[in-house]
Amino acid sequence: MKADIQVYENLFGMSKTAADWIAHSVECTLNARGQYLIALSGGSTPLELYQLFSEDPYTSDIDWTRIVFFWSDERCVSSESPDSNYHQAMMTFIEQLPVPLGHIHRVLGERGAQAAALAYEETLLRYADSGQSIPVFDLVLLGLGEDGHTASIFPGSPLATFENKLAVGTQMIAETPSERVTMTPHLINAARAVIFMVSGEKKAEAVRATLKGQSDPLNWPAQRITPQSGELIWMLDSAAARAMG
Ligand code: 6PG
Repeated sequence: MKADIQVYENLFGMSKTAADWIAHSVECTLNARGQYLIALSGGSTPLELYQLFSEDPYTSDIDWTRIVFFWSDERCVSSESPDSNYHQAMMTFIEQLPVPLGHIHRVLGERGAQAAALAYEETLLRYADSGQSIPVFDLVLLGLGEDGHTASIFPGSPLATFENKLAVGTQMIAETPSERVTMTPHLINAARAVIFMVSGEKKAEAVRATLKGQSDPLNWPAQRITPQSGELIWMLDSAAARAMG
C-alpha cells in the first residue's frame, strides 16, 4: 500500500484533520462491525489530538462506549507516572469519556519489559478473530523520533526480534526510562489503517530518510511499517516535511 503523505501548515491543522478522520472512521466501522480497535501513540505530538477528543463536537459525536483502547508502545513505569503513555491519554481525554474500563488495555509496564510484553500479547490475542493469531486494529497511531524510531522500535534493533510476535520488550539506549514494550511491525502491518503524526523541524531528516531515502529498515525502523492491505497515512507539518523536496 503506497503511503498517502499529507502536509499541514501546523500541528493544530494536522491534529484537527486527524480527529475528523478518526471520528468518520469510527462511525463507519461501528455501523459495520460494532467495535473500534485503536492503538494510541505516546510522546508529545498526539497531545493536541487527544485534547480535541476531550472537547465537543468529539465528546458527543463519537460513541466512546464501543471503542477499545490499546497503546502502540509504552515505557516500563507505573500507570501513575508522568512518563506513562497510558497516563497521558487517560488524563488528557479518556477518563472524561464514557469508555468502559474493560475497553482500556494498558501495558503493565511496572512488571518489567519481558513480563509486560507477554501479558500484553495475551490480551491482544483475545481480540483476534477465532482461528486467527493476529488482532486486526482499525487504527494504529504512530509517531517518529529524531533518530527514526517509531513506537518503541529503535534503529539497529534486529528485525528477527519482532518476527511473529505481537508485542516485545525493547530498550531505548539514549533516553530514560529506557525499558519499553512495543507493538511489532508484524501486528501493526495487519491493521486496517496506520497514521503517522510527525511535527517539527527536528524530525525533518528522519522523515526524509524514512520516506525518500535508501531502503534500510534496520536503521530506519519506520520503513518496516507497510500495512499488507490497510491504509498508510503520513501526516506531517510543514516543518517536519522541510527536507522532502
Ligand atoms: C514514545 C512514543 C515514541 C514517540 C516518538 C516521537 O513512547 O515515546 O510512542 O515512539 O512517538 O518518540 O515522540 P514526540 O512526539 O514526543 O516527538
